[in-house]
Amino acid sequence: MHQDEADWSGDGVSLAAHQDPADQDVEMSLRPRKLSEFVGQARVREQLELVLHGALKRGDQPDHVLFSGPPGLGKTSLSMIIATELGSSIRVTSGPALERPGDLAAMLSNLAEGDVLFIDEIHRIARPAEEMLYLAMEDYRVDIVVGKGPGATSIPLELAPFTLVGATTRSGALTGPLRDRFGFTAHMEFYAPEELELVVRRSAGILGVDLRDDGAAEIAGRSRGTPRIANRLLRRVRDFAEVRADGAVTREVARAALEVYDVDELGLDRLDRAVLGALINSFHGGPVGISTLAVAVGEESSTVEEVCEPYLVRAGLLARTPRGRVATAAAWRHLGLTPPQHAPGSPQPGLFDE
Ligand SMILES: Nc1ncnc2c1ncn2[C@@H]1O[C@H](COP(=O)(O)OP(=O)(O)O)[C@@H](O)[C@H]1O
Ligand SMILES: [Mg+2]
Repeated sequence: MHQDEADWSGDGVSLAAHQDPADQDVEMSLRPRKLSEFVGQARVREQLELVLHGALKRGDQPDHVLFSGPPGLGKTSLSMIIATELGSSIRVTSGPALERPGDLAAMLSNLAEGDVLFIDEIHRIARPAEEMLYLAMEDYRVDIVVGKGPGATSIPLELAPFTLVGATTRSGALTGPLRDRFGFTAHMEFYAPEELELVVRRSAGILGVDLRDDGAAEIAGRSRGTPRIANRLLRRVRDFAEVRADGAVTREVARAALEVYDVDELGLDRLDRAVLGALINSFHGGPVGISTLAVAVGEESSTVEEVCEPYLVRAGLLARTPRGRVATAAAWRHLGLTPPQHAPGSPQPGLFDE
């Protein structure tokens, strides 16, 4: 266990799905600006287009929108696009920044009619601020409490009609009342390799990378279904292509580069492999609770749960059971081991088969 600990991030180059401050500028330049530039998520795009254009046509303020899903799938991008499509300004804040109701009241009272208020990581908003948000979302009104104790009075404050856009990596952590106040909720799915190919081609065009067809396919296939990672891999592969080859990103160059950066054929990064490795080596494949697993890899539970686990589940490597997380037979094989009978997906009937 100690060998795996924190080892996954030791090289200083982050390839995980988290947003990395160092990447912010490049991310800005690669961000799709219009709905038509936004690749994939066809359903979400179509539904959103109807919500926005329906409201525009009627001259109404569009419903509040909630995006949920793992990091790097385009939640922030879509939120910005909403404002662009509506032709309005956007104000950006995040759940953790709204600790006191006063913080939120200040934000809300500064909104102009038709503005979009984007609250990232909205599940981390403090309770009193959340309660203020209910009234604001429903009636465009807040009650400001002045004073303390029995002498306290509340002053109602009218707000300009606005659209709240919330984003969360953990929709399950949202309270019912908050969730219910969103008129439109979209769950973002991991992208298909063909969609990620479009993403990297578009980015290569913007960054001026000589990306060949087979190189694009290789990068797309190893991007964990995540555009942010696809863009990151493209930039790392470009470095490699410029330093060790003639600059062209072919399949061969991409493969060699991704080997250097420890991205395997399934696109798993070191943290993903550390989680599977701990699950299999320290807990014999599970079941084990998420917090125990997180301690074993030296990470926060929330990171393992929100950043790592969704893709491992989607890739069929990890299963959630009532008793904890379990490595599937495919996970054992991916690490070059023979799966025991009890691993889900093993050929023999085992403990977890229903
Ligand atoms: N559908 C998409 N089409 C093109 N690029 C995308 C798409 N979704 C995300 N990206 C790229 O991935 C990066 C991260 O997306 P972002 O919206 O910040 O994800 P999230 O907020 O869900 O973590 C963006 O800067 C953008 O370059
Ligand atoms: Mg975001």
